[in-house]
Amino acid sequence: MASKQFDVVVIGGGPGGYIAAIRAAQLGFNTACIDEWKNDKGGPAPGGTCTNVGCIPSKALLQSSEHYEHAARHFGEHGIGLKDLSIDVKKMLARKDTVVKQNNDGILYLFKKNKVSFFHGRGSFVKAVEGGWEVAVAGAANEALVGRQVIVATGSSARALPGAAFDEETVLSNDGALRIGAVPKKLGLIGSGVIGLEMGSVWRRLGAEVTVLEALPTFLGAVDEQIAKEAHKAFTRQGLKIELGVKVGEIKTDKKGVSVTYTDAKGAAQTLAADKLIVSIGRVPNTTGLNAGAVGLKLDERGAIVVDAECRTNLPGVWAVGDVVRGPMLAHKAEEEGVAVAECIAGQHGHVNFNTIPWVIYTSPEIAWVGETEQQLKARGAAYKAGTFPFMANGRARALGDTTGMVKFLADAKTDEILGVHIVGPMASELIAEAVVAMEFKASSEDIARICHAHPSLSEATKEAALAVDKRTLNF
Ligand code: FAD
Ligand code: NAI
Repeated sequence: MASKQFDVVVIGGGPGGYIAAIRAAQLGFNTACIDEWKNDKGGPAPGGTCTNVGCIPSKALLQSSEHYEHAARHFGEHGIGLKDLSIDVKKMLARKDTVVKQNNDGILYLFKKNKVSFFHGRGSFVKAVEGGWEVAVAGAANEALVGRQVIVATGSSARALPGAAFDEETVLSNDGALRIGAVPKKLGLIGSGVIGLEMGSVWRRLGAEVTVLEALPTFLGAVDEQIAKEAHKAFTRQGLKIELGVKVGEIKTDKKGVSVTYTDAKGAAQTLAADKLIVSIGRVPNTTGLNAGAVGLKLDERGAIVVDAECRTNLPGVWAVGDVVRGPMLAHKAEEEGVAVAECIAGQHGHVNFNTIPWVIYTSPEIAWVGETEQQLKARGAAYKAGTFPFMANGRARALGDTTGMVKFLADAKTDEILGVHIVGPMASELIAEAVVAMEFKASSEDIARICHAHPSLSEATKEAALAVDKRTLNF
């Protein structure tokens, strides 16, 4: 079989891969992207975990369930009366599927627009060849491609608990968690990380009794402690049961559901009985099937591809980006790396600033942050100033009826440079963007405090938190 020659071959069509392919094509490279994800008809569904079983469908369900909760709990405060409120889960799931398909189709359109050649199937390394790498595609049609440069963006998959494989009926990964066909009476979750909190929120809002079992004794350890405490209070108030410091034992399923034995933080033996169990204890890089061993592609002990700061692997002309390499497993991090690699291939200075990658947890209240937490600053002995401003004192938040939480600024004690911004509250996902821009431009808290912010807006809480660093809030 004659091989098809490309300047750049990308393996994986998630946010890391498809964005790398588009940027490479924009830079004038003849580019191919291989992705194996299948839709329910067996056709291509590019976009990876993010589009198919991650960011996009989870946000669709978070939106639907938030509408439901507003209608059920908060419309009355506005004088809006509702009789016979109900949720049609099948319709909600169908809407989510439509949103996913719009994104899949959008990526196929972008490939066409940018003249990226798309191959539907599994890509694996064959061997080094003159001037590049041979990559086989196993799919509806088998193809042999040669790439002068290869970018691996094969993503990650849910980690299962030993002895409790995902059956996606009762023991669910993120995939099954997004397809539960009726609101479970009792839902168990293992892991109170990002997926646990987002998916737990969806099904709690719709009426499930949700219990989350978390191994660590601290809640959201990566989040600023003050913000995590505020979020914990809010989630508990909403009825999410979060048990910290547990040791999960045996998981048994039967026709009725699932039971989980565990030891609680006090050392007492407990059992959680539930209709469904979501296991969200982190993710593992996807490298099986790549035939990495045959070409000597170096992996670490977790199975992640080893890369340097510019995403170069140990093989010349082979790069890797996104969840399959070190760093946070976030779609926007994967995208930034994809762009940076394409630009490095073009001889430009592609670069990702890991200090300004924002994090968002799309619960209600939302949690968002960028930069260092207060506990990190303390641990490294940094001299810093902190300023906080509660949404309770923000006029727009009061009008919205959503006053939980705060904005918190951390700035260098001497230079006033912003070191971290942490938000728990309404629209934190959008508010954090101002902080990211500020930190990219090495702004001081005074810079933000001196900028005119529209009134009434949630963004005024950001300005006020910046003012608070200098102890001169105007509205609190
Ligand atoms: P992926 O998106 O995993 O894409 C990899 C692609 O490569 C897949 O299509 C896979 O089928 C394909 N592939 C793998 N091996 C091969 C092969 N050998 N040949 C061909 N194709 C192959 N991140 C956020 O930033 N914001 C969020 O709100 C968010 N929400 C999430 C919600 C959930 C429930 C989950 C599970 C994740 C969420 N994430 C979120 C994380 C985000 O989905 C990932 O960080 C992101 O998808 C990583 O992109 P990637 O391109 O590295 O890999
Ligand atoms: P996670 O790393 O966020 O959280 C996993 C949690 O499980 C941790 O708190 C961990 O201590 C706990 N845990 C691990 N083993 C356990 C055990 N045996 N028993 C009990 N608890 C245990 O992982 P999660 O939620 O699976 O999500 C994976 C990744 O996907 C996230 O880290 C994030 O990168 C990405 N993601 C991002 C989202 C966003 O940006 N909004 C949304 C969802 C996922």
